[in-house]
Amino acid sequence: MPFPSSISIHKMQQQPLSFSIFFFFFLLGFASADYLQNSDFESLPKNVTGNSSVAFVLLNENNTMPGWTFQGTVQYVTAGRGVTLPDNGHAIELGQDAKVNQSFKANGDYANYILTFSLAPCGQNCSANAKVIVSGPDNQGIFSFKQHYGKQAWQSYGQYLGLSGHEESVSLVFESQSVESEDNSTCWPLIDSLLVKAVDKLVQGKDNILLNGGFESGPEFLSNSTEGILLDSALSPVESPLRQLAVVGTIRYIDSKHFSVPHGNAAVEIVSGVSAGIHTEVSLAQGSAYNLDFTLGDANNACEGDFIVEVQAGSVVQNFTITSNGTGSAKKSSIKFEAVSSATPISFSSFTSSQTKDGIFCGPVVDDVVLLSSNSPKIAIKPSILICLLLLIVILWY
Ligand SMILES: *[C@@H]1O[C@H](CO)[C@@H](O)[C@H](O)[C@H]1NC(C)=O
Ligand SMILES: *[C@@H]1O[C@H](CO)[C@@H](O)[C@H](O)[C@H]1NC(C)=O
Ligand SMILES: *[C@@H]1O[C@H](CO)[C@@H](O)[C@H](O)[C@H]1NC(C)=O
Ligand SMILES: *[C@@H]1O[C@H](CO)[C@@H](O)[C@H](O)[C@H]1NC(C)=O
Ligand SMILES: *[C@@H]1O[C@H](CO)[C@@H](O)[C@H](O)[C@H]1NC(C)=O
Ligand SMILES: *[C@@H]1O[C@H](CO)[C@@H](O)[C@H](O)[C@H]1NC(C)=O
Ligand SMILES: *[C@@H]1O[C@H](CO)[C@@H](O)[C@H](O)[C@H]1NC(C)=O
Ligand SMILES: *[C@@H]1O[C@H](CO)[C@@H](O)[C@H](O)[C@H]1NC(C)=O
Ligand SMILES: *[C@@H]1O[C@H](CO)[C@@H](O)[C@H](O)[C@H]1NC(C)=O
Repeated sequence: MPFPSSISIHKMQQQPLSFSIFFFFFLLGFASADYLQNSDFESLPKNVTGNSSVAFVLLNENNTMPGWTFQGTVQYVTAGRGVTLPDNGHAIELGQDAKVNQSFKANGDYANYILTFSLAPCGQNCSANAKVIVSGPDNQGIFSFKQHYGKQAWQSYGQYLGLSGHEESVSLVFESQSVESEDNSTCWPLIDSLLVKAVDKLVQGKDNILLNGGFESGPEFLSNSTEGILLDSALSPVESPLRQLAVVGTIRYIDSKHFSVPHGNAAVEIVSGVSAGIHTEVSLAQGSAYNLDFTLGDANNACEGDFIVEVQAGSVVQNFTITSNGTGSAKKSSIKFEAVSSATPISFSSFTSSQTKDGIFCGPVVDDVVLLSSNSPKIAIKPSILICLLLLIVILWY
């Protein structure tokens, strides 16, 4: 049994590392505390019995939903007969003028709150899919079931809610928005499996000028979802569920549990084709030289082909081609550039729209983006030493 023994040797040698890993998971556990009550709608409304065979039950004053306040036409939905839901339990359908809301208390320290939720269409024969507006304290997003990116009938999305703290009440609101439809075949959205995560403000580390370059700070993955989380366009890095990185088009936020992730627990897969991707601006010293390292690959989801990723770092724009067998490849590359202005753009854009043989939309994976100054001195002078030296010079001068 060489495997367990090698693990124990590794553990003995890496005591500080395993401690920091433990600490990291402790923090993660804390960060993903579930803030919402009845977040998967498995607590039944008052008059619905667990063995109810009725697929849709209209909520009203006598039939309320634990944890939630609602207005308009809201139905309690049970999976089965044409309705597929995450974990096959229950969901709610937001019908005409529907609005549901819940509030929760923020932690003591200010943190960014990010929502993961699942959206499903209510039927197959829809001429139009009504939209759902998701609002948090500082941000609002509109979602609709316009396209299937995966195999499941439902899809999970990520949405930035806002910055809160000091026991502030954070309100989360879902509202339906009807669309024009000639006949009566509008499908209303079903929502299910909500998860709220608080992430701390990111601080620049010595080992990477780029914030969230490893894509570890984003929405929390649903434990039973095998299809990652879709992130729709979020053109402001401040209001992006992928913290500090703007999203163009649609990307899939993938977890290492279900996909091939080059580094850490998460990466991004650019799924919506031409010019979709991620973008940010970094404040750099004008005229200085920098190095941008990154890993490109595929998610091990049977996505085959040649993907072109256009990488921009300042004024340098370069195409990289990945040849993928769909079996989880990863290749490190880098770009050297000089910062010509203080706001330096960094972006990764896909030039390829791909689908697997099963029809799943897929594309190149980007991970582990590291930006560092390439002419930084090997021996860094500590600020305290620098101040002492300056003082000494000043004293000697006089
Ligand atoms: C729910 O149950 C209560 C009594 O338990 C009854 O008065 C009420 O009419 C019921 N509502 C519905 C919608 O069935
Ligand atoms: C549902 O279950 C309850 C108890 O769990 C039982 O009393 C009732 O008869 C059941 N109803 C149906 C329709 O099976
Ligand atoms: C709720 O229950 C009350 C009392 O049983 C009844 O008068 C009322 O009509 C019910 N409301 C609805 C919407 O069913
Ligand atoms: C929903 O919003 C209303 C109005 O803002 C508020 O009174 C109510 O308490 C909220 N419901 C929940 C469950 O937070
Ligand atoms: C959808 O339409 C097809 C053919 O038009 C029909 O056979 C099927 O029963 C419809 N499904 C639903 C859920 O209405
Ligand atoms: C269309 O919807 C309206 C309002 O919901 C309903 O009264 C009408 O019967 C529906 N028509 C058809 C053809 O389903
Ligand atoms: C995940 O799936 C398992 C088995 O299907 C189920 O027991 C569990 O409750 C699910 N977890 C969540 C968070 O829904
Ligand atoms: C990268 O490839 C795309 C598609 O072939 C092309 O449109 C684009 O101009 C190329 N960019 C660079 C920097 O060569
Ligand atoms: C892809 O498959 C081909 C033939 O099956 C093989 O030669 C090649 O090494 C594979 N490439 C990768 C990156 O796995």
